[in-house]
Amino acid sequence: MKLPNIATMMLASLLQHRRFVVAAFQLSSHPSSRTPFLASPNRDMTSPSNTAIHAQSESGGRSSAAVSDKALLSKTSTATTNGQSPPAPEALDTNPPKGTRDFYPPDHRLRTWLFDHFRAVSALHGFSEYDAPVLESSALYVRKAGEEVTQQLYNFVDKGGREVALRPEMTPSLARMVMAKRGGLNFPLKWFSIPQCWRYERMTRGRRREHYQWNMDVWGVDGVEVEAELIAAMVGFFRRVGLTSDDVGIKVNSRGVIGEVLAELGVPPEKFAATCVLVDKLEKVPLDAIQGELEELGLERSTIEKLTSVLTNKSIESIREVLPADSQAVKELTQLFKLCQAYGIQDWIQFDASVVRGLAYYTGIVFEAFDRKGVLRAIAGGGRYDKLLETFGGDPTPAAGFGFGDAVIVELLKERNKLPSFDGCGFDTVVFAMNDDLYGAAVQVASSLRENGQTVDLILENKKSKWVFKHASRIEAKFCAIVGSDEYANGEVAIKDLATGEQKTVKIDALGDWTREVSNS
Ligand code: HAM
Repeated sequence: MKLPNIATMMLASLLQHRRFVVAAFQLSSHPSSRTPFLASPNRDMTSPSNTAIHAQSESGGRSSAAVSDKALLSKTSTATTNGQSPPAPEALDTNPPKGTRDFYPPDHRLRTWLFDHFRAVSALHGFSEYDAPVLESSALYVRKAGEEVTQQLYNFVDKGGREVALRPEMTPSLARMVMAKRGGLNFPLKWFSIPQCWRYERMTRGRRREHYQWNMDVWGVDGVEVEAELIAAMVGFFRRVGLTSDDVGIKVNSRGVIGEVLAELGVPPEKFAATCVLVDKLEKVPLDAIQGELEELGLERSTIEKLTSVLTNKSIESIREVLPADSQAVKELTQLFKLCQAYGIQDWIQFDASVVRGLAYYTGIVFEAFDRKGVLRAIAGGGRYDKLLETFGGDPTPAAGFGFGDAVIVELLKERNKLPSFDGCGFDTVVFAMNDDLYGAAVQVASSLRENGQTVDLILENKKSKWVFKHASRIEAKFCAIVGSDEYANGEVAIKDLATGEQKTVKIDALGDWTREVSNS
């Protein structure tokens, strides 16, 4: 084996050393470059991977290679050019994207209040909470029945080339989740969620581009006991928030009515879903406007006439007369109304053959909560969708549920004066120190109260007591704990009850007892 001779090794070492010295000289000759790391002898100062190092030495600061781009530098720099001030930056548009909302603390408190009621009612009915990603594969929403919701998708191709969409509703995600774990789930499922949903809607009162939607669904049971339980839960919510059956009604129908009319007239079942979606539009658009679309679907004028006359029925008795004697739809509707009587919610519900709901997947009973004054749009809607899983290639699995948006209900509650105030933060005690030297003592008092379960707003700056009392009343705190030198010298703190105006001193090491005393009173 041939070993490198000593002279070759010395020359190599010298060359390497020379590069080191040159590199070090280049950097250190710049007044602001002093970082030893940059002078590594193994760095090739001309290689593209080291442009960051050049940028660093030129700009004199800790900046990235991007800063070496002079054009970009001039765009982002605040330094003056040619002695002139840079143009003032364009003011930021502080509005959230159209149709979306910011939730400032009072708005957020309202939302939490509403969601707490949704959660409480769901728990009262034995439903468990679940969630899914807001971003789903667009394929989940490909339905060919011409529904509005599939035309309102917020969809895009992600950086990996996948077609994705923000969910416009929760039901397809739920179906996907059920299908994914079907073998491992204990049926029947009673699940609820409060997802944020996105629809590129034309904005009207109570309709926006994002909304939260309380969903309650039951999977694995095919009887109308499910629909009755779901409607009873909805009514349970309305009652909890102070609404009565004079404020809200729930219209009930069965798509089976349409199915039976179509079957009787020989219309093939594959036209059922698209017919329902078109019939739903009759609520908003006059018949002649969608007559053409119904005809395009293959429905004859006589079929359309029969359908539209059936839809005007407002009682189960009158619908019974136009349907076959053994009508399954009539049987189910009759049983549902009987069950609602057992729940004691009969005043809330009414039959209405014109209610079809706009989603293609409903197969049987459908229902819709509405404002009795007729001012607001539908408050909530749902129904049975026994075939949804099959459309995804899954096993037939009965399912029913509803979606209940957060927008219309809040409008209604505001209108009926049923909303509590959300101005106050609801914290128990405001703690403040009378002077800077007592701040440590105030921290001690706040910590003790927190350990005893109180919610405490500790005043973090030196403020006058007038300001503190005004602040405490604005946030609707219950008490104010004032840490003053005389009391503190005695191991005490003064506490003012902001409702009664009474003030007393409490031993700091007895704050636990005081907390228990006030929380029991
Ligand atoms: P949906 O009828 O499309 O049903 O919507 C249900 C409810 O969500 C509506 O009644 C309304 O309260 C609210 N909502 C819908 N769109 C908007 C919007 N743009 N702005 C504000 N609120 C809105 C469904 O979504 C079904 N997936 C419900 C369901 C669950 N069916 C069975 N299980």
